[in-house]
Amino acid sequence: MGISGHSSDNIMDKKGVSSINAIRRDYRAIFDRDPAARSPLEVVLTYSGFHAIVLHRFAHIIHRAGLRFPARLISAVSRFLTGIEIHPGARIGPGFFIDHGMGVVIGETTEIGADVTLFQGVSLAGNGKDRGQKRHPTLGDHVLVGAGAKILGNIRIGEGVRIGANAVVLQSIPSHCTVVGIPGRVVRTKERGYPEAYLNHQDMPDPFLERIESLEKIISDLREELDSARNGRMKP
Ligand SMILES: CC(C)(COP(=O)(O)OP(=O)(O)OC[C@H]1O[C@@H](n2cnc3c(N)ncnc32)[C@H](O)[C@@H]1OP(=O)(O)O)[C@@H](O)C(=O)NCCC(=O)NCCS
Repeated sequence: MGISGHSSDNIMDKKGVSSINAIRRDYRAIFDRDPAARSPLEVVLTYSGFHAIVLHRFAHIIHRAGLRFPARLISAVSRFLTGIEIHPGARIGPGFFIDHGMGVVIGETTEIGADVTLFQGVSLAGNGKDRGQKRHPTLGDHVLVGAGAKILGNIRIGEGVRIGANAVVLQSIPSHCTVVGIPGRVVRTKERGYPEAYLNHQDMPDPFLERIESLEKIISDLREELDSARNGRMKP
């Protein structure tokens, strides 16, 4: 079972046909989540994130069969071709989508739920301190991880969590939150039913612009208060 009760592990445990089903869902996820995806041929031939997950699903089967070296070889070839490094031991649910891809690193004991989206430069990695069996993070279903974000150590990221670009997450995060910054802090919580990850980049927020707008509003309120205080004083 996945961390939130979905059936991703069943899909992977059955190997063969069930991995094919997982790949079908990976393929559909691209059309569901990337408005730039136009034709099947384009996706199959040019999406490095798709190439990486297909190769990983085969490497993972071989890894589970105990053929660790051939599995690492497939993973190394995949990294050479795609710029995405996924350890064959990582357990990844269906509907997985890595957009752009270059620089993504996924460690050996990482577990990823269903319908998760990663952007380029994401690391799901160890923190250099955990020495146990499980050193890498566990991500729930429908998690979105922004470009350049690092999730480090044996921590759990709950279902539907959105991690902002360049965040560094060092602690477990409850479901349906937004996390940003270094170290990552929760800035928003949502009720269940968070919308699916949709890569509508033109609607991305500009935090600096928002902060400037809020400061402008404060200054204008203060000006008004000052003016009315001055006017009050001038009255006889
Ligand atoms: C975090 C994210 C998913 C938005 O999630 P959300 O739940 O809609 O959150 P909001 O947009 O309401 O932002 C919440 C707060 O975090 C801030 N914030 C959002 N993203 C941030 C980031 N990456 N770093 C720092 N602060 C960020 C917002 O300004 C806002 O601050 P405020 O409450 O002071 O106004 C989105 O901003 C993001 O980073 N997406 C990744 C996109 C990406 O990697 N694209 C790569 C394309 S190649």
